[in-house]
Amino acid sequence: MFPKYSDTPFVLDKDLGRPQLPKADAYCRTNSEGRPIVELTPAQKFAFDLRGWLLVPGVLSEDEMGPMREHIEQLHANPDSIPEKDRSAIGGPCASLTDHPVLVGFMNEFVYNPFTDGNKSGAIGSQNCYGFRLDSPNSQYRPANEESPEVPNKGKFVPHNGSGMMRLPGDHHTYHAFPGQAKSILTRAVWELNPVKKGMGGTLFVSGSHKSAFPTPEEAITDMNSPFWDTYDCPAGSVLFFSEAVTHSPSVWTNADNPRVAVFNLYNIVGSKWSEWEPHPDLLKEMPAQRQTLFRPVYVNRNVVA
Ligand SMILES: [Fe+2]
Repeated sequence: MFPKYSDTPFVLDKDLGRPQLPKADAYCRTNSEGRPIVELTPAQKFAFDLRGWLLVPGVLSEDEMGPMREHIEQLHANPDSIPEKDRSAIGGPCASLTDHPVLVGFMNEFVYNPFTDGNKSGAIGSQNCYGFRLDSPNSQYRPANEESPEVPNKGKFVPHNGSGMMRLPGDHHTYHAFPGQAKSILTRAVWELNPVKKGMGGTLFVSGSHKSAFPTPEEAITDMNSPFWDTYDCPAGSVLFFSEAVTHSPSVWTNADNPRVAVFNLYNIVGSKWSEWEPHPDLLKEMPAQRQTLFRPVYVNRNVVA
């Protein structure tokens, strides 16, 4: 056996360099539907920190994802047929993806910073309140070899980001790692509602580039087939997490067996916001109270539902 570092990661808190030691109650153990949170395994934590992305295959059953797939198809083919409040990637049957137990387990580990303000206030998460926000949702319905003159670069090769550990606060595309703990700020969860074949249109990553200290030599990644690019295949119903700090790119969907049908939800810390998007107020009102905390106002001090 290798020697292990402490099970309690040491992270400096705000006051005089004291360690941040959140209580266990700072991490919700169930989601807004009462389902137990699925924690990441040590191997999954290691893999995400190493690469900047993590695939969890086969999370959703066919019964769960059938209506979600229909919702996304409808959203792209005939949005006016959907009630206005549900006309987004978090509407209708897709609402439960926003705080799926596997997603909450991931965000608790890699996005939520259980910051406390000493004796003044506890951590910014509780059994009723998530320690992270859903910043904005998006979705894709992409048939094979689609050309879209109206939307340039749709489905094309567009590498961006990288070097998240070298970026300053305010950038959002940041990643910080310490022995036993790591935090990604802007973080994407992609729900693949159809199968993805390797090299035929899934998201591409330059693994490890969220930590890279040197600029990426452009000639090394301008070819989609460069060995620096990694990708994945997966069955329908898988979820892909990635830090926006890692170099990544969409690619051209060439799989003629099925279109890409995917939900892209972007998460953030509670004190920061990337986009101007807000959920439809009527949709928000009908959500369970704990799910509503994903969309609470953007600030840190005492921003917790007890
Ligand atoms: Fe991106």
